[in-house]
Amino acid sequence: MTAVKAWFPTLIYSDRLQAKGGQAFVRELFDDCVRIREHDAPGRNWSASNYPLGYTSYGSLDQLHRFSSSFDQLRARIDTHVERYARALNWDLRGGRLLMTDCWVNMMPRGCAHSFHLHPQAVISGTFYVRTPRGCSGLKFEDPRLSSLMAAPPRRARGAEAQRAHITYAARAGDVILFESWLRHEVPANPSDEERVSISFNYHWC
Ligand code: NI
Repeated sequence: MTAVKAWFPTLIYSDRLQAKGGQAFVRELFDDCVRIREHDAPGRNWSASNYPLGYTSYGSLDQLHRFSSSFDQLRARIDTHVERYARALNWDLRGGRLLMTDCWVNMMPRGCAHSFHLHPQAVISGTFYVRTPRGCSGLKFEDPRLSSLMAAPPRRARGAEAQRAHITYAARAGDVILFESWLRHEVPANPSDEERVSISFNYHWC
């Protein structure tokens, strides 16, 4: 219908971290994640009350890129994707740059979930997938206008994909996903018997 045009798109970025190879690096990061959990007693305690069933270093070790060389290597690789994403967003950084400020581990066994939230203060947030057992939960995004739709009728379930109220990206080890930090997202309860492991991060403009 040429009378109707779409405006104000919401851009989500998803790509392999490395075009080829990279499995050894992902395995190394997995080992690091396991080690971090082992040594992070305060984080395990924090998770017990704030991240039921699972482990996250969000409350204890949230700048892993500053303290681990493998995480810093990951940061360097993600930087390249963030630059590409910022170009797609048409951002004028005005001499500033996009800097990873937070980086933490998430380990989700069966039933562990992270309900809808956003990342205040950051500009770009995202996740890198380390271990994604078959059938594990993906990352679900919500149309940012949902709360403004008020009395609008629901949309047809079979309508255009881009017009759905929610979109879920499947989690795949080795993938990086980026989104603007104001975009609400959740990880539904993990239905897999095996742990889903990811590394999440925030970027600031400074
Ligand atoms: Ni999040």
